[in-house]
Amino acid sequence: MQTIIEPFRIKSVEPIRLTTREERASILEAAHYNLFDVRSEDVMIDLLTDSGTAAMSADQWGGVMRGDESYAGSPSYERFEAAVKALMPFEHVIPTHQGRAAERILMGLVGGAGRVIPSNTHFDTTRANIEATGAEARDLVHADGLDPALDRPFKGNMDLDRLEALLDARAADVPLVLCTITNNSGGGQPVSMANLEGIGALCRRYDVPFVLDACRFAENAYFIKQREPGYADTSVEAIVREMFSHADGMTMSAKKDGLVNMGGWIALNDDAWAEAARNQLILTEGFPTYGGLSGRDLEAIAIGLQEVVREDYLNYRIASTQYLGDALTDRGIPIVQPVGGHAVYVDAKAFLPHIPPLHYPGQSLAVALFLAGGIRGCEIGSVMFGKQPDGSEAPAAMELVRLAIPRRVYTQSHIDYVIECFEEVQAQKEQLPGYRITKEPPQLRHFTAHFAPRDA
Ligand code: F0G
Repeated sequence: MQTIIEPFRIKSVEPIRLTTREERASILEAAHYNLFDVRSEDVMIDLLTDSGTAAMSADQWGGVMRGDESYAGSPSYERFEAAVKALMPFEHVIPTHQGRAAERILMGLVGGAGRVIPSNTHFDTTRANIEATGAEARDLVHADGLDPALDRPFKGNMDLDRLEALLDARAADVPLVLCTITNNSGGGQPVSMANLEGIGALCRRYDVPFVLDACRFAENAYFIKQREPGYADTSVEAIVREMFSHADGMTMSAKKDGLVNMGGWIALNDDAWAEAARNQLILTEGFPTYGGLSGRDLEAIAIGLQEVVREDYLNYRIASTQYLGDALTDRGIPIVQPVGGHAVYVDAKAFLPHIPPLHYPGQSLAVALFLAGGIRGCEIGSVMFGKQPDGSEAPAAMELVRLAIPRRVYTQSHIDYVIECFEEVQAQKEQLPGYRITKEPPQLRHFTAHFAPRDA
């Protein structure tokens, strides 16, 4: 059979309010052309993020009812811990309310001025939590990962030569090596098993711990199964266990491949680090058997972890992201190649060459998609990264619009509608205006900035 069906039936639905183009024009104006300022009820297809937006299964909702809300020693924690350890066999599993809380606690333990923490590409909250301690966050993704059009199977890989050079020169200043799977900031690209093994071997040689930022571990494992020689007949669960066998710990946002709306954890082998992390956890998150979550959340994660490694689910998941990417490629719309696991990244600089980077082609495309069909994507370009610490502006490395696909939420006809909206935008792309920023905060301006279209 050629058709890959959604491997679920829909039991509960959320209505989508259908808007007219005129309504969307006034919604955009009221939001100062910032899609973060649009109410979700005014969005028809919300591709802002795949984080915390998954649909839970009937089993997970059943688990929610079973959640034990005892302050200490809850059996929900035991089921959560067992589900994590079945895939990621680390000694200590410490729940947190979401991924950045895990990062905050871990970086608080190991960061500090003079330290440097490398990764393939740090996600922005990871980078911010490292820099908040005074340490340096360094991206060492392989050069392949920086070329949007290049089609390679594992563009999330770390450059092992540069990692070795860093460890050779400064191992004493490197408290741990991170690797993000899949590499979200680099286009959702996977990291190969060989690369994980290579990082692990270098870390052991220099006696530096290796920690995975593992939000999308199941999608990464499925890419290894599909693309890396020797893994086609290995189960996803076995691939996941092998991936984590190279590491000494992990941070996790369960809002992605935990298939839940909130949650995360830190897992570690080192007893002293785990004790220090639990002491921090008690200060800001909660007691170590719930850490900022409810018992019901822990139950939902425990079940989500079993569902996310099922091959029918992953086959549907990766194929549906690919379906959108292929359709855009067929229509000549430039995207980051190959298509990532959780999102399609449109190359707005190549799509709208008449708009210079500091007139924000990504913002222009994101606004045009909303106007055409109520679709909400996310600019990842000079709006997000163009502001320099000294207050000046410089173009970002790439001008992208991320269309992140929530897990188990939209069907193929929703995606067909997105494709049709792209066709409409493409037909009038020469007329799309650049934008200027009329108001912005000092930091993280993309969330709250106001924009105005420039005269065409
Ligand atoms: N690491 C990666 C690779 C992420 O993609 C995210 C979140 C985090 C850490 C932080 O986790 O949100 O639970 O605190 N990414 C979301 C996104 C926000 O839209 O890509 P969190």
